[in-house]
Amino acid sequence: MQIFGRKKLNKDSIVLHEKQDFAEMTRAGQVAAKILDDLCDQVEPGVRTIDLEHFIIDKIEEYGVESATMGYRGYQHASCISVNHVVCHGIPSQKSLSSGDILNIDVTIILNGWFGDSSRMYIAGKPSIRALRLIQVAHDALMIGLDSIRPGKTFGDLGWTIQQFAHSHRMSVVRDFCGHGIGRSFHAEPNVLHFGRPGTGPVFEEGMFFTVEPMINLGRPGTRLLPDGWTAVTRDRSLSAQFEHTIGVTSTGIEIFTLSPENRFYPTNFQLRAKNSH
Ligand code: MF3
Ligand code: CO
Ligand code: CO
Repeated sequence: MQIFGRKKLNKDSIVLHEKQDFAEMTRAGQVAAKILDDLCDQVEPGVRTIDLEHFIIDKIEEYGVESATMGYRGYQHASCISVNHVVCHGIPSQKSLSSGDILNIDVTIILNGWFGDSSRMYIAGKPSIRALRLIQVAHDALMIGLDSIRPGKTFGDLGWTIQQFAHSHRMSVVRDFCGHGIGRSFHAEPNVLHFGRPGTGPVFEEGMFFTVEPMINLGRPGTRLLPDGWTAVTRDRSLSAQFEHTIGVTSTGIEIFTLSPENRFYPTNFQLRAKNSH
């Protein structure tokens, strides 16, 4: 019997996973989330992004999983680290962080053949008010979008929800990169756009696994690819922020596979709590 012959696809070629697959995805997602939690205490001024990459490689080994990005289409790293006006796919480098830098760290791992993909924002030192506002809006855009997903609604509804929210805060949504179907492969159908029109696009069905990962810019939505072929930056050099979860559609809503085990998804949770505790 062919394994791939057993894969159930809907009419839009989107895989509909089985009940038991949710537990596999939770296992994979929780490792990605744990690595992102572990990183919280590593990010500070003076640290180079390659140091963070090495920390991630050590954790991947410690947790007995595999990197999904190492060797993926020629990419040579276990993380993407996107600082300030870098929108996504920043390559870890010798450059060290300065106070006020904001950065997205994106980690995708494979456990038992299942992919867990998540990213979140980190802050080095003391951020500007506008950087904090951007991070808040990027975080809330993801969570409000996720909250809108349930069987019967559409991917266009999701995109519209995210777009409306960003625009209501006079920020823009990147259109050049999207979320993706995920599961036993890294990038599958469908493309998950973070903008759209209500009622358009494929309908959500129980068993769909995909990422939602909106990139929000303080300025214009346009991006440009640097000559390294990976790094995407805002054309107007405005700050950009992104949060990403891997989720599964249930009969009533969603399950988030990449929830932070230590509730550290939102970067200032921890700092605010520390400040309020005396
Ligand atoms: N993790 C990224 C995503 O959210 C993909 C990174 S692919 C890489 O889809 F090759 F740039 F690492
Ligand atoms: Co990712
Ligand atoms: Co992704």
